[in-house]
Amino acid sequence: MSDEVKIYKGLDGVVIDESKLSLVNGTDGKLIYSGYKIEDLAEHALYEEVVYLLWNGHLPNATELEAVRAEIAAGAEVPAPVLAMAQMLPKDAEPMAVLRTLTSALAHYDDESEDSSPAANRRKAARLTGQVMTLVANWSRIRKGLPVIAPRHDYTVAQNYMYMLRGEAPEVNAVNAINAFMVLLTEHGMNASTFVGRATTSTKSDMHSAIVSAIGTLKGSLHGGANTEAMRMFLEIGEVENVGPWFEREIKELGGKIMGIGHRVYKALDPRAAVLKDRAEKLARASGNGKWFDIADQLANLARADAYFIERKLYPNVDYFSAIVLYTLELEVDMFTPLFAMSRMAGWTAHIMEQTANNRLMRPDVLYTGAMDLPWLPLDQRP
Ligand SMILES: CC(C)(COP(=O)(O)OP(=O)(O)OC[C@H]1O[C@@H](n2cnc3c(N)ncnc32)[C@H](O)[C@@H]1OP(=O)(O)O)[C@@H](O)C(=O)NCCC(=O)NCCS
Repeated sequence: MSDEVKIYKGLDGVVIDESKLSLVNGTDGKLIYSGYKIEDLAEHALYEEVVYLLWNGHLPNATELEAVRAEIAAGAEVPAPVLAMAQMLPKDAEPMAVLRTLTSALAHYDDESEDSSPAANRRKAARLTGQVMTLVANWSRIRKGLPVIAPRHDYTVAQNYMYMLRGEAPEVNAVNAINAFMVLLTEHGMNASTFVGRATTSTKSDMHSAIVSAIGTLKGSLHGGANTEAMRMFLEIGEVENVGPWFEREIKELGGKIMGIGHRVYKALDPRAAVLKDRAEKLARASGNGKWFDIADQLANLARADAYFIERKLYPNVDYFSAIVLYTLELEVDMFTPLFAMSRMAGWTAHIMEQTANNRLMRPDVLYTGAMDLPWLPLDQRP
């Protein structure tokens, strides 16, 4: 029986549907969002332009861009009961677990939470994108006992995030860096969290449920959690002169993994990593502290020259240098993954809408390898 069944463990290469949202070309290291190269979008686009592109299939004109920016900003208010719930959570709770809980709670205060019509889904996509941003920015405050700050209706997502986080007018360079980070992380084909979000949608469940599924999936260290883990690794290395000995001990002797390196699809350099490396270096040098960039760069160079990494085609992925970008902006290390989630909201919601528009229940199979035909034993006869 088992000889006849092909098992796709890890679902490598399994194509589950068609999509117009993004192309991930792992052989050549290329990423395209609805026709546009990631390098061009990271250089020129506002996060909201990419959001509009994914939700509508074309770039917005000036009027459309202002409309979607204003819609997200106006919908970003988090209902008071959800903020009150946030205050009750343990201050040392894992931030992605907090985001998962609070995003689920948002559904109870959204009048359209059970309406999955195209128009309601589109409105919820805007509200959820804004509200998740508000929750991510304010969890950093709430856990320190600082007052909650409401989003401003005249700001972009990147401006609002920095404004709520810091409690002061956002600084232009930081906003630009966060905007570029968000553009680069907005969408990425059939990654694990997007797949799970689409699978939830395929049962005709609602958008909040699908986003909660996706957040729980992104949390893992093999997926979005890798940016936090990469920074913890750089911090553990601590000094540039420790990179070589650390690599020899932790990777070569103990067989550990370099977090932020390797990818299921990219067998060439992740194009997002190339852009982020450049950004990370410029930000680090401008900050006057190039140490963390140098540690990351030296470790990547050691891996690039190592036969084990060369044979397996292991290159830095998006999480590797983004950790340096976010750390240089003085963001808290355990908030890196929530920031990834906040950026991915546009991609997740676009996929949920695409799945809803042409749905088929996702129901794969598994090969049973357990026991068969056992005799039933009454309780008092079991060992
Ligand atoms: C992303 C990741 C899960 C992809 O995994 P995958 O497609 O299932 O590939 P595998 O885990 O089977 O890796 C293939 C081989 O490379 C090795 N490898 C993969 N990533 C590695 C890393 N970061 N450091 C060292 N070795 C690594 C594996 O041990 C495996 O070796 P083997 O052939 O001797 O068994 C994996 O590269 C990884 O764990 N990276 C670190 C976490 C990370 O950065 N995640 C974010 C992804 S965007």
